[in-house]
Amino acid sequence: MPHLLSLIREDVANVVEHDPAAKSRLEVFLCYSGLHAVWFHRMNHWLWNHRLFLLARMLSQAARFLTGIEIHPGAKIGRRLFIDHGLGVVIGETAIVGDDVTLYQGVTLGGTGKEHGKRHPTIEDNVVVGGGAKILGNITVGKNCRIGAGSVVLRNVPEHSTVVGVPGHIIFREGKRVVITDPKQINDPLSEALASVANEVNKLRERVQQLEGSEVKGEPLSESLQRIMEDVDYQI
Ligand SMILES: CC(C)(COP(=O)(O)OP(=O)(O)OC[C@H]1O[C@@H](n2cnc3c(N)ncnc32)[C@H](O)[C@@H]1OP(=O)(O)O)[C@@H](O)C(=O)NCCC(=O)NCCS
Repeated sequence: MPHLLSLIREDVANVVEHDPAAKSRLEVFLCYSGLHAVWFHRMNHWLWNHRLFLLARMLSQAARFLTGIEIHPGAKIGRRLFIDHGLGVVIGETAIVGDDVTLYQGVTLGGTGKEHGKRHPTIEDNVVVGGGAKILGNITVGKNCRIGAGSVVLRNVPEHSTVVGVPGHIIFREGKRVVITDPKQINDPLSEALASVANEVNKLRERVQQLEGSEVKGEPLSESLQRIMEDVDYQI
């Protein structure tokens, strides 16, 4: 590992540049457990690649005990990974993380439990993953994406997108707001239930209209419902 020291210098400089809370290089070097975990990982990954699997696993467990961050030694990590706060971060064996990625505390780059082989996500360069977000399965999060805190991402995310929610859905792409025109696009069981209830209500309105021979006069729509009706093509 000839470059380890220069990589450490680069990691520290990166944090000093990007974290407003960082006061000095010495503080970053001594106190940022996210960096300590990455440095341990570089060593463990080297051991893993040299088929010293058990030693690599034991040292990664020791790193987990010391930092609260679990990175499997098989994971491929790019340069300048910044794990901010870090507690509870889990990175699986076949995960690939690009350069200049930021992960906050509680992030999981995990498997769904249904796949074999490459079963953890690929995170491309310059992605920010918010606190507690779960990115699961052999999916790819494209360059320059932002994943909202608490999201659960189960599908590929195209470059330059912002994803939020459970399950995660795109709200910004290439800097523009993405309007969901059909609640089913969110692929959320609750949305489907709401969509089918809305369809039923529509049918009933039409039926009542037919029976009464005039337009049904109901309560005025609530403000939030009005906003949905204006924003989306999907008609409730
Ligand atoms: C996803 C994120 C990057 C979006 O930031 P942004 O581009 O400034 O977007 P906005 O704050 O304008 O939010 C846009 C919409 O998404 C919603 N939203 C934002 N973050 C969300 C989240 N994590 N989960 C669900 N919805 C979210 C907002 O309520 C808003 O909805 P609306 O337009 O219907 O009112 C940001 O909210 C986020 O989660 N960052 C992670 C920060 C983090 O984890 N910090 C840890 C520090 S310790």
